[in-house]
Amino acid sequence: MTKLAVIIPAAGSGSRLGSRIPKPFIELEGSTILEHTIRAFLNVPSLSEIVIPTSKESVGRVEDIFKSLDREDLKMMVVEGGSERQYSIHNALKCVSDEIDLVAVHDAVRPFISANLIEACCEKAVGVGASIIAVPAKDTIKRINEAYLIDGTPDRKFLWQAQTPQIFKKEIILEAYESARSNGFIGTDDSSLVEQLGYEVGVVEGDRRNLKITYPIDLKIAELILKEEI
Ligand code: CTP
Ligand code: MG
Repeated sequence: MTKLAVIIPAAGSGSRLGSRIPKPFIELEGSTILEHTIRAFLNVPSLSEIVIPTSKESVGRVEDIFKSLDREDLKMMVVEGGSERQYSIHNALKCVSDEIDLVAVHDAVRPFISANLIEACCEKAVGVGASIIAVPAKDTIKRINEAYLIDGTPDRKFLWQAQTPQIFKKEIILEAYESARSNGFIGTDDSSLVEQLGYEVGVVEGDRRNLKITYPIDLKIAELILKEEI
């Protein structure tokens, strides 16, 4: 069977949320956001490894979560993150075991991903080499210039919002991260690093519950989803 590792970056400062507690460790309905996120992956049969980059101060919290999961069949590692999401993930990638076939990257602050979507994304990554979850853009997107004037309106039909998980054959993501480092390229997602090398990346249509908790309103929506299962 295909062996999957998931990297769950949890080293951010959460500046847009502005919370005192680091974002992944905020509690929602009795569990931290990070625990909700990890649990979604525990239902995926091919999962064999979890690597979590986090801040130095939060390493102990992640170790406590690992102990509480009671899953001796999984290899679980915590590493120190970096100043950019990309650096955090690169640190985690160095820990992924040799026997792993697929590497998923999934934000710690997207707790509502379903096991079905993770598996659909894995399947596409096995076929194409790389695959991401995305949803069609609901707003018309404008390109603007520095004077806040509109520079163009790309056809919305071809605009999709990238989410995570983003899943790759291990060799592809390793090559992409090494290449980005040597070229000084910083992307806002993992797929963009792979795209830079000319590899194809498949898209699996996701759902809008898979929100990224970014602003205070997202936290309120997340509470509603958990309370009312919307
Ligand atoms: N992340 C990380 N290392 C960083 C920055 C971000 O591991 N240097 C992680 C975050 O913890 C989060 C995910 O990447 O789980 C997505 O990032 P984002 O939502 O932007 O979180 P933050 O960077 O923490 O928030 P902000 O951008 O508002 O500061
Ligand atoms: Mg950020």
